[in-house]
Amino acid sequence: MDKIKIILDCDPGHDDAVAITLAAKSPKIDLLGITVVAGNQTLENTERNARNIVQCLGIDVPVYAGCDRPMIREKMTAGDIHGETGLDGPVFAPLTKELEKEHAVSYIIRTLMESDGDITVVTTGPMTNLGMAIRMEPKIVDKIKQIVLMGGAYTNGNVTPAAEFNIIADADAAYVCFTSGRPITMMGLDVTRQVLCYPSIVERMGKIGNHASKLFVDLMGHFCKSQKEVFGWEGGPLHDPVTIAYLIDPSVVEVKPMNVQIDIRSTQSYGRTNCDFFGYQQLPATADVAIGIDAEKFWDIIEEGLRLYS
Ligand code: BDR
Ligand code: CA
Repeated sequence: MDKIKIILDCDPGHDDAVAITLAAKSPKIDLLGITVVAGNQTLENTERNARNIVQCLGIDVPVYAGCDRPMIREKMTAGDIHGETGLDGPVFAPLTKELEKEHAVSYIIRTLMESDGDITVVTTGPMTNLGMAIRMEPKIVDKIKQIVLMGGAYTNGNVTPAAEFNIIADADAAYVCFTSGRPITMMGLDVTRQVLCYPSIVERMGKIGNHASKLFVDLMGHFCKSQKEVFGWEGGPLHDPVTIAYLIDPSVVEVKPMNVQIDIRSTQSYGRTNCDFFGYQQLPATADVAIGIDAEKFWDIIEEGLRLYS
């Protein structure tokens, strides 16, 4: 079977780091490039974090830095969860992995234009890079096979009652992507909050005993502590890897087609992904929205993914 070609656009970020870990070695995925955006931390931090992860895992994937702020609004970060560096916890060796010279937005445009329309764009951060690429070269839209994102919620947000971080951090970019007309699958908080990384899971992954599992344990040490402080949970929701787990095994997530509108106009609900779960509005479905997840299968995928490292 052909591998699924992906560009992973991210803002590492502890859970982004696990998404990279899973994508890079999966026999089902061909990770073409990692593009980085400001989000969990400033771009300076997130692009350095991406290179640290790639180097630590010993994988050969190019890293491109993209937009350092949202399309229109002021930048917001998530230092309360991911720390001052955006990846507090692990201690990395001196960094030698270099950043590619090309801007992430140019890379996305060039790679899609040169493709046969067989590339999936996965976003696990604010959607600024992809939104900008679509605006700069609208011809890429037909070349995008599908967009799979972590973001949004049809229930409660995590920054405001209405909005989830990746969407509110650049709702205008999300609006551009959601109105592109390409197939889009949304892994929202509704399902990612069902995969809480409890201490027993950290212990299970730690027992694998390779460098990827050590990185996982180091990452989760900080991530789970801050999630407990902010949300009161014993385990942190492992949001971003749900996108990759779904590509590896679509049966892990149940999706429902819905009409989804990004709120870019209101004050209180700015950044909300308004999902017409019941189809009240009788509008065409615009996205497949995740409504269920098989948590046991998800953790098995994570474990299998970590075991692929030596
Ligand atoms: C999302 O926001 C970030 O903090 C995480 O990396 C994830 O992508 C969850 O709301
Ligand atoms: Ca992220």
